[in-house]
Amino acid sequence: MRLALIIGTLLSVTTVCAKSGKTPLYKNPSFPVEQRVEDLLCRMSLEEKVGQMCQYVGIEHIKNTELRYKGKVGKNDDANATYKTLSIDGLQKLTEQGLVGSYLHVVSADEANYLQTLAMKSRLQIPLLIGIDAIHGNGLCEGATIYPTPIGQASTFNPELVKKAARETALEIRATGAHWAFAPNVEVARDPRWGRIGETFGEDTYLISKMGVATVQGLQTDDLNGEDKVLACGKHLVAGGEPVNGLNAAPMDASEHTLREVYLPPYQALIDEAQVFTVMAAHNELNGIPCHANKWLMTDILRNEFGFKGFMVSDWMDMERIYSSHHYTPSLKEAYYESVIAGMDMHMHGPGFMEKMIELVKAGRIPEERIDEACRKILEAKFRLGLFENAMVHHKNSLKTLFGAHKSTALQMAEQSIVLLKNEGILPVDVSKYKNILVTGPNADSDAILGDWTFAQPKENIVTVYEGLQKVIPASKLNFLNLGDDVRIVDSTLLEKAGEMAKHSDLAIIVLGENPLRYDKRKTMGENVDRQTLDLLGMQEALVHRIEAVGIPVVVVLVGGRPLTVASLVNTVPAILQAWEPGSMGGEAVANVIIGKVNPSGKLPVTMPRSVGQLQMIYNHKPSQYFQKYKDGESTPLYPFGHGLSYTTFAYDHLSVAKQRLQPGDSVKVSVEVSNIGKVEGTEVVQLYIRDLYSSPTRPVRELKDFARVSLKPGEKREVSFMITPDKLAYYNREMKKVVEPGEFEIMLGGSSDEGQLKKVKIEVIPSYE
Ligand code: BGC
Repeated sequence: MRLALIIGTLLSVTTVCAKSGKTPLYKNPSFPVEQRVEDLLCRMSLEEKVGQMCQYVGIEHIKNTELRYKGKVGKNDDANATYKTLSIDGLQKLTEQGLVGSYLHVVSADEANYLQTLAMKSRLQIPLLIGIDAIHGNGLCEGATIYPTPIGQASTFNPELVKKAARETALEIRATGAHWAFAPNVEVARDPRWGRIGETFGEDTYLISKMGVATVQGLQTDDLNGEDKVLACGKHLVAGGEPVNGLNAAPMDASEHTLREVYLPPYQALIDEAQVFTVMAAHNELNGIPCHANKWLMTDILRNEFGFKGFMVSDWMDMERIYSSHHYTPSLKEAYYESVIAGMDMHMHGPGFMEKMIELVKAGRIPEERIDEACRKILEAKFRLGLFENAMVHHKNSLKTLFGAHKSTALQMAEQSIVLLKNEGILPVDVSKYKNILVTGPNADSDAILGDWTFAQPKENIVTVYEGLQKVIPASKLNFLNLGDDVRIVDSTLLEKAGEMAKHSDLAIIVLGENPLRYDKRKTMGENVDRQTLDLLGMQEALVHRIEAVGIPVVVVLVGGRPLTVASLVNTVPAILQAWEPGSMGGEAVANVIIGKVNPSGKLPVTMPRSVGQLQMIYNHKPSQYFQKYKDGESTPLYPFGHGLSYTTFAYDHLSVAKQRLQPGDSVKVSVEVSNIGKVEGTEVVQLYIRDLYSSPTRPVRELKDFARVSLKPGEKREVSFMITPDKLAYYNREMKKVVEPGEFEIMLGGSSDEGQLKKVKIEVIPSYE
């Protein structure tokens, strides 16, 4: 449909809607949201309604892309949007005509305000909903607080802290004129080759659900009403975290059991426990149907079964890929048809969709009620977020102030996220014992600590590991060898230099890992940066061995969002810290852990494999998984899920259950005494795992069902209890009904999922006829 035709149709709209004096009802905040939505909806033309379903990238984003690529954005490079059939002027006009519902990637309050002024020129003055990828802080905006990426957030096992960081992020999002975070990513990450693993909460469905719910609660709060709230977005529906070959967007085949047990529960939790208002579909196909055209997922499961009350948004150009990548439809128009009929409500992003949608409605193929349904939810969000009352940002310079207020949360989260993988008595470093401490490695003084989904941040907002060490170790003792920050580099002269400097040092702290920075061409992980191996790249391993050869003790710090196959380092290096992507204050957190100002308490939210050939390597595998063992190497992981050491030692005693035989439907309390038997105060993450010993269908050897963070002084002990409720014992039976099967269950408690470290007790659910 041409623009002239659209404008013509607009003029023909007749309003039969509620009158309330001169001001239309929908503009009067004293009416309930539902009434305002209906009033507005009935004033809207078909074109305006479809316009609400349309999202575009911000005009500054387009300008920057045009500048950067000088019109040469590659055929397959749709990650850098410019619109071939729509000029910036054209986009501005569409906005003024009320034919744009939403923008994304608007990164400043000025631009947001400008776009809103365009929308305010439209006939009905419907404000724009602006969305942004604020995955761990509002990182695409300059000056935002960058928290650890979700993999590190999950390592804290501290949902309250995750909620706090999300609340702070919401304020930073609103301060820049956006109202919608494309977070949390609740993918279940079961293949670390996949570059997006750092933006997930790891491999465990229960932990992901808890962290996802906390994120939504922080972003949306309980009611979503008001000018300091933002919409959350559960993504990506579904099962993209285990792509074939580890490649982002590759196809997925999964049984309904696996979907219901592993991949779908986080969505149900986001809906039940936090009323998440938006959900984004996944790039991948699922069992032969692209997720963007999957009615079973979007409508039958999400809306009808789980009770989702918000709206679905497509992922970046993925409606188009139903046709161009999946070859599921023979044309773009059919792709849009399949997607919207299946339950998709908003198109991310660009021209083309609106015209085709209007044609489909006019041809009677898509009922107008379907468009109303989509539009109603988008309008509801705008009303609830207070945008009709105030779409502008007035405190546009406040990111600086907010960073000042929020950086302590970022530091605390980073400190709690660091996982001490190995320690042979070297940590914490007693600085007084050393004369010269060599600090080196490509990530020692690198912004890689920020993780993916951030753009470059002001230098003064970032504490690199080296800078953090400078705060806690006297300058006279620090020898820094700058190797550059390219983790892929191989340069034997630098190795020699490191060896030479090591000879004059009595301890080395070597910071290694990956580069997740999306703005850096040298990146090695992040979105669309998948790998065939999980080894340290470039000369990193050789660097460690070169320094070790001199005979000094070495502490390795790993920065990056994925577990790496560092078995050879584990064999020789006495201390290894997994720092993940710890964010703005990450270097300070690492330094505080190294010198013992902070006792590490992070636990792995993913299994660390020994080699890429061991994949799939997950802790909650099925009983027959290792019936056979590999003939050319170990079959066990390098480190199990839930592993993480402390500078103190915790003992578990007196595991007991209140009763051992349960009627179906009964709950029972399980308790254990946890003591700090070491010399310093510490925090333990007590983990509860459950296994149904004999079951049909087969069940995992253990599954996390609860956890608690417990801080104990030296010598202190505490009873830690969990309620084992029927939902913790239940699973989908062969008829796909969620039931508690009678029989024996093993209850396991400990500080890691490692079989050998867990205390165990059995309970029995007796059949109802006994
Ligand atoms: C990603 C989404 C993201 C969107 C918008 C896509 O490429 O898959 O997670 O929200 O881009 O930036």
